Amino acid sequence: VSAGLEGVIAAETITSEVDGEKGELIIAGFPVEKLAGLATFEEVTYLLWNDRLPNAAQLTAFQDSLARYREIPRIIYDVLKEAATQNVPPMDALRMGASMLSLDSPAEDLDPRGQAISVVARFPTIVAAYWRMMQRFDPIAPRADLSHAANYLYMLFGEEPNEDTVRGLETYLNTVVDHGINASTFAARVIIATQSDFVSAITGAIGALKGPLHGGAPGPALDMVFEIAHPANAETYLRGKLERGERLMGFGHRIYKVRDPRAEVLCEAAKKMFDKTGDRSLYELATEVEKTALRLLAEYKPGRRLSTNVEFYTALLLHGLGFPGGLFTPTFAIGRVSGWLAHCFEQQLVGRIIRPQSLYIGERNREWVLLDDR
Ligand SMILES: CC(C)(COP(=O)(O)OP(=O)(O)OC[C@H]1O[C@@H](n2cnc3c(N)ncnc32)[C@H](O)[C@@H]1OP(=O)(O)O)[C@@H](O)C(=O)NCCC(=O)NCCS
Repeated sequence: VSAGLEGVIAAETITSEVDGEKGELIIAGFPVEKLAGLATFEEVTYLLWNDRLPNAAQLTAFQDSLARYREIPRIIYDVLKEAATQNVPPMDALRMGASMLSLDSPAEDLDPRGQAISVVARFPTIVAAYWRMMQRFDPIAPRADLSHAANYLYMLFGEEPNEDTVRGLETYLNTVVDHGINASTFAARVIIATQSDFVSAITGAIGALKGPLHGGAPGPALDMVFEIAHPANAETYLRGKLERGERLMGFGHRIYKVRDPRAEVLCEAAKKMFDKTGDRSLYELATEVEKTALRLLAEYKPGRRLSTNVEFYTALLLHGLGFPGGLFTPTFAIGRVSGWLAHCFEQQLVGRIIRPQSLYIGERNREWVLLDDR
């Protein structure tokens, strides 16, 4: 029994390759560090779905179609409003909102690619509207004249973002857009392989992404840095956690046995951003915490080869861009949904249901006992 399916190759893909020994990530042919900081999110989504970069005309058409479907059905706002009164966590609200994208869909008459575009287009609208409702503010309607990333920032914060902030967010979204068959992508592939629909597949994927072992780590990773507060406290704090058998969020990975290349890209982006603000103190604290964590993980877990993963610097970058911790994982979903859908397209071509086996280890030959005799 391979409980975590380690080493099982369940699909061929042209979307991304994760090399855990070399610490390399290729996204549709590009090393992540050569793509993430240059491309727009629209370009990366087009690349993943078409296996080539768009030319100018193709890019304009793709951007326009994404911009056209940003608005969500009224009823989703109503449900989000109710969810906000109950303080439902943002990932649960995204899951609810996403599942309702089959309602009143302007994409009804669209081909499958058009339906996928409308799903990607509407994720930021759901997240931003819900976040504002949680703060008791009115949601802000999407604008079609802004890029995907700029519009998300605009709907969250109510003002047009500057170029550096948009660039920082796009670098983040591009970095996390796809990552082999991670848990949420696998969930999406399992669902679509039953000949189900995109909305069902991405709704299941959101549920998988939410868990702290997958996409839910950056919030706790940042909390940890804030609680440490000064490099001098790092050793005592982290040692205490490891002594209690707790995990250090933002470290360790099923595939990467060296530093996650995405951590590298996001660390660089965070450094650039903090340099611009003129206050590098949080960045410097985080790098000190990272160094101490790596030294202690090697001491407490020798031979496990635990290194920094994507979530540690996700937290730092998104925090620096003005995102509150509650938005980290939903923002991850806004990037990853393009990857989920790219995998759905591939899985549809495979045309085979995913159905592993289990090993029965329970009782056999039980005798039925009447209720009164139990
Ligand atoms: C990502 C993660 C789930 C991978 O898990 P995995 O491949 O199943 O690894 P395992 O759980 O088998 O861990 C192997 C060993 O390292 C330890 N370990 C793994 N990650 C650890 C961490 N972040 N802190 C402390 N110990 C850790 C485990 O306790 C285990 O120790 P043991 O052999 O003494 O029992 C795991 O590293 C983790 O929980 N990390 C923290 C959460 C996180 O940052 N998630 C985001 C991932 S991108």
